[in-house]
Amino acid sequence: MSARRLAAEQPGSFAFASATMEQARWWIAKYPPDRKQSAVIPIMWLVQKQEGWVSEPAIRAIAELLGMAPIRVLEVATFYTMFHLHPVGKHHLQVCGTTPCMLRGSEDLKALCKRRIGEAHAVSADGLFSWEEMECLGACVNAPVVAIHDYYHEDLTPGAFEALMDKLARGESVTPGSALGRQTSAPEGDATVLTDASLFDGSLAKKITLPNLPEKV
Ligand code: FES
Repeated sequence: MSARRLAAEQPGSFAFASATMEQARWWIAKYPPDRKQSAVIPIMWLVQKQEGWVSEPAIRAIAELLGMAPIRVLEVATFYTMFHLHPVGKHHLQVCGTTPCMLRGSEDLKALCKRRIGEAHAVSADGLFSWEEMECLGACVNAPVVAIHDYYHEDLTPGAFEALMDKLARGESVTPGSALGRQTSAPEGDATVLTDASLFDGSLAKKITLPNLPEKV
């Protein structure tokens, strides 16, 4: 695990947008009043959605809202890599570099990020992109994986990844999931086993009568 520190340059203040505060109150209401600190992660996530990253004034504001010591909120912010402690580009690309993804080509994806965006954590000149390497994102079966905003993009080749970046740069939406078009984590290509449709339509099921059913009235 790498040391994660707050950005050297911080804004002077932070204020919850009204929509953010409305959602924060929804999360707080899920917990007993003396346990409202339990909402710290979802509220920090909302703050990140509002600002793009989590600043030191935002950490203090979250702490005040939840009645926590700021250090407790800082601990959460610095522990979870889902929280950005520095400003990021409009699209922040989180490239998994752990072994399964590395074996399936993540080094090439990182090289592409370096060529097109710059070093990890740098924001591109147009403000559109930034990237970082992540530890396992938990979707190794469809490696290599890149997380963008709330979604995973899987089975990426450098070509598929660059096409994705092109779309984002043009302001187009991108479809998450497998770049190979495989269904969830099913094997690549057409199914080669269990291909008989009657296996799944119930026609092979033996008719049985359950014992101990109540008498019909
Ligand atoms: S190693 Fe990349 S998702 Fe697990």
